[in-house]
Amino acid sequence: MTHPPKAEFDAYAEGYDSGMNAPLKGLAGAGPDDFIAVKLRWLLRWWPDLATRSDLSILDYGCGAGTLMRLMRNAGIPGAMTGTDISTGMLREAARAWPSGTPQPALHAQNGAETGLPGAAFDLAVISAVLHHVPLDARAAVYAELRRVLKPGGRLVVFEHNPWNPVTRFVVARTPIDADAILLPRTEVSASLREGGWRDIHASDLMFLPPRLGAVATAVERAFSWLPLGGQYAVTARA
Ligand SMILES: C[S@@+](CC[C@H](N)C(=O)[O-])C[C@H]1O[C@@H](n2cnc3c(N)ncnc32)[C@H](O)[C@@H]1O
Repeated sequence: MTHPPKAEFDAYAEGYDSGMNAPLKGLAGAGPDDFIAVKLRWLLRWWPDLATRSDLSILDYGCGAGTLMRLMRNAGIPGAMTGTDISTGMLREAARAWPSGTPQPALHAQNGAETGLPGAAFDLAVISAVLHHVPLDARAAVYAELRRVLKPGGRLVVFEHNPWNPVTRFVVARTPIDADAILLPRTEVSASLREGGWRDIHASDLMFLPPRLGAVATAVERAFSWLPLGGQYAVTARA
């Protein structure tokens, strides 16, 4: 079943950062970029080729304000980037926030789960902090669309808030944009991917400590990624 376009994020697009405000977040990192930067560092550890290969095409599904793509570009990741989102307001914000003088990523409005993009087009698809906004009965269509647009063997990364971490639950319960959130554990993502025919499914956790602790936080993350108690998790798979 496809779901009707849901663009409640249009209401937050212009003040996106304030919509993410919650107690503790300010203590944990200096700003929204710091949380996304943790995911970028994780991606580069997981697939170091991202730093050098200009032939890779990368999709950020539900890209929001485009922060991950912007940080990727700032870090010198040379691959071609495409962002999609169900909210045209967020896509406008992504275009507005993109640094001038740098070629913008392709930005596409979704129709429900559908991106409207050609099939078998991407080497990597990232879906970060999106699925908990997608109604339960609409999630399978999102996984199917991601599988359709990835090349055979293409890589998927699902980043999500970890409902098994009490601090994450505390923060989500007090964050305005998460009013509708239905958090999902990594076991749900892995099971859905298995049902959808994905292969090489792995889960690991990240963000055990506040991003502002820098190298200490990264060292702890590397040592404890097997422990399903991080603030966030990543599930990876191949199409
Ligand atoms: C919390 S933001 C995350 C944005 C970005 N991925 C990030 O990590 O910063 C959630 C985004 O998911 C989008 N979204 C919600 N439901 C969606 C859906 N069914 N398909 C695609 N995007 C969706 C929202 O419009 C919003 O931009």
